[in-house]
Amino acid sequence: MAERTQPDASAARRLSTGALLLRIAAHAGALAPLAYLLWQTLTGGLSFDPIHDLTLRTGKPAFILLLLSLAARPAVVVTGVTALRPLARTLGLYAFGYATIHMLIFVGLDFGFRWDLIVGGVLEKRYAVIGLATFLILLTLAATSTRKAARRLGALWKRLHRLAYAAGVLATLHYLWAVKFITFEQWAYAVVLALLLVARLPEVEGRIRRSRSE
Ligand code: HEM
Repeated sequence: MAERTQPDASAARRLSTGALLLRIAAHAGALAPLAYLLWQTLTGGLSFDPIHDLTLRTGKPAFILLLLSLAARPAVVVTGVTALRPLARTLGLYAFGYATIHMLIFVGLDFGFRWDLIVGGVLEKRYAVIGLATFLILLTLAATSTRKAARRLGALWKRLHRLAYAAGVLATLHYLWAVKFITFEQWAYAVVLALLLVARLPEVEGRIRRSRSE
């Protein structure tokens, strides 16, 4: 009996160690851009336009973390490693965190919390309107990301959290419209998003799962 349970126990321990390392790597990777930005802010390492610098360098991590959060599910489908699943929530919350700082820099540092000016400032730029819509979706998803909220919302929770894909599409549009010149980098992100949307289609997921189990 002991001989049979021991390998299972050590496999479970290995798995949970792997999951723990993955979680630590996700937190460290997500916090690294913020730590570096804080360091550069405190040591005078920002550009001649520090507010613009801060805006861009919080928007980009928000966007990338959102894409990585959307990539967690296909990564589970492709590899079968279920420990990757919780990363969707973790990275999504970090995306929301960066997006909040990004938005606060816009309303606080750019516009000094002058709401009369902020409304005009947002409405006059289509990328800002789309950015606001993306932010509101991320806020809704973050507010309902707890187990308690999932229990309370029941079947609606799943449908609501599919809005993460809409946030991905809107964030990509925001990015494409915010930059002065669209380069290979922005198109590459748009292609990644398109692949993630295709990978989410039930038929595609089914095919990948079947080919993995063959
Ligand atoms: C109220 C919401 C938002 C506002 C007002 C806003 C505003 C801005 C502004 C002013 C810029 C700089 C444009 C320029 O170069 O002059 C920008 C860039 C950007 N924002 Fe937002 N944004 C919002 C939400 C978001 C969200 C939710 C995301 C991602 C999830 C995001 C991602 C980005 C990215 C990736 C860039 C371009 C960064 C780069 O060029 O490196 N923004 N945004």
